[in-house]
Amino acid sequence: MMGPGALTLLLPVLLGWASCHPIPGRKSFHKLLLISFDGFRWDYDQDVDTPNMDHLAQEGVKAKYLTPPFVTMTSPSHFTTISGRWIEDHGVIHNMMFNTETLKKYSYKTTQNKTEWWDNGVLPLWITAQRQGRKTASFHYPGGGATYKGEAVQRSLVESYTHPNSNETEWRENIDIVMNWFTKEDFDFVTLYYGEPDSVGHRYGPETENRRVMIQQIDRTIGYLVEAIERYGLTEHLNVIITSDHGMTTVKKKPNVTEILLTDYISFQDLVKFDIVDYGGFGMLLPKPGQEEVMYQALKNAHPHLNVYKKEEFPEHFHFAKHERVLPIVMYGDSGYSISGQLILYFNKGDHGFDNVYMDMKTIFRAFGPDFKKNHLAEPFDSIHIYPLMCKLLGITPEPHNGSLAVTQEMLVDTYNQQSGAKMRRASALQNTATALSVVTGVLAVLFVAGVTFTVISRKKQRADQNSRSEPVRLTEL
Ligand SMILES: *[C@@H]1O[C@H](CO)[C@@H](O)[C@H](O)[C@H]1NC(C)=O
Ligand SMILES: *[C@@H]1O[C@H](CO)[C@@H](O)[C@H](O)[C@H]1NC(C)=O
Ligand SMILES: *[C@@H]1O[C@H](CO)[C@@H](O)[C@H](O)[C@H]1NC(C)=O
Ligand SMILES: *[C@@H]1O[C@H](CO)[C@@H](O)[C@H](O)[C@H]1NC(C)=O
Ligand SMILES: [Zn+2]
Repeated sequence: MMGPGALTLLLPVLLGWASCHPIPGRKSFHKLLLISFDGFRWDYDQDVDTPNMDHLAQEGVKAKYLTPPFVTMTSPSHFTTISGRWIEDHGVIHNMMFNTETLKKYSYKTTQNKTEWWDNGVLPLWITAQRQGRKTASFHYPGGGATYKGEAVQRSLVESYTHPNSNETEWRENIDIVMNWFTKEDFDFVTLYYGEPDSVGHRYGPETENRRVMIQQIDRTIGYLVEAIERYGLTEHLNVIITSDHGMTTVKKKPNVTEILLTDYISFQDLVKFDIVDYGGFGMLLPKPGQEEVMYQALKNAHPHLNVYKKEEFPEHFHFAKHERVLPIVMYGDSGYSISGQLILYFNKGDHGFDNVYMDMKTIFRAFGPDFKKNHLAEPFDSIHIYPLMCKLLGITPEPHNGSLAVTQEMLVDTYNQQSGAKMRRASALQNTATALSVVTGVLAVLFVAGVTFTVISRKKQRADQNSRSEPVRLTEL
């Protein structure tokens, strides 16, 4: 008789309590998807119709261009994006892993499972986010298959050796897989990687119809992504960053130019213990013992478009050569001048690895979602600054890094910018009102219940007096 009545009275008190505590499962940040289209030069959308990318520029943020770190290469650049550290710090200095004792080289794909190439003490964002309670995944993103200080990315798909780069159907399936990770499995942060338009840029060259056709395929895929985000009900919950690791330039070939072939200037047999060359615009050599000076003198003025340095004299602004893995002689070609060792392999019509100052090495940055401004054209910036932006979006404390949130924060909507200020104050004002209301309601309810109880007790007492029997009544049972 007493129970249900008093419960109804106390309901407003309980509701008032609930409203000033976070509802379990509700998050203070939005989910984040980082997509990389390998080798997407900054201006690839300017000579081909890209309706979906144009639409996104209106619906979100577009940077005029993005400067990748030197060396402008896939694994090093991607790891800078995911860690916010210069290549000299994170140590993923090349796509190839190598060992100067065994003289072995391992291909890009082989390195993906090799933790020793990636884990040099700098934590990528997946791991930092996981340690702070976020659920993260990597879909083919470079470095996602390694473990860091023994910790693996919670979900990681590594690109197989036979994975096709340009299957548009598979691209769409991958988007759906990722959408399911976000919705069905509640992942917070996912990185998704595509091997195009890098592949087509190498094979046919950047100034070709093949490349333009590939950009249209990417644009359709971005259209599919936007549609999928709506279909999965993620529009208000998911921020998306679309970026890349470097640009692409047409390789200069004879008879137009004199190509760089190192064996024209040095004897590999006499001077070279180990080489990392034949890999686009960048190369490194390990001289045989005592041959460093001879090698350096033979190469430094050898070719007008070849820039050769001793490791310790390599320009500091590249933030590259300090790492112990970098070999004693470091070189890069002027734009389009690939560095060949003992013979010229005529595979690539386009390449990268050149100085990141060249416009052909610049890449893209696009972003959209609930926390990004609309129709915002951002000034060019360095990819190192993407990391603190991602940490901010995910609401996590970054590791020490070389980026700056100040560079990218202006892309965020104002309320989000001031979240630690105005939004929090608004939230706490609401909370105070709710608390005050619930206190008043509570007091009234307690008084009322006390009144009812008193009446009931009095009546019972009267009955007890009549029946010579007494029962205790305890409010706490309610
Ligand atoms: C990486 O490791 C996984 C699991 O052991 C394996 O299935 C896959 O083939 C490996 N991939 C590469 C590129 O080595
Ligand atoms: C492309 O991918 C789809 C879906 O994974 C597959 O069914 C199809 O056979 C692939 N096409 C080619 C040409 O490999
Ligand atoms: C040489 O340059 C011309 C003009 O830029 C270009 O059309 C041609 O393809 C080049 N040849 C080679 C082999 O690169
Ligand atoms: C990059 O950041 C790391 C970690 O804070 C720091 O040790 C290093 O000196 C920074 N590099 C530069 C060039 O500022
Ligand atoms: Zn490439």
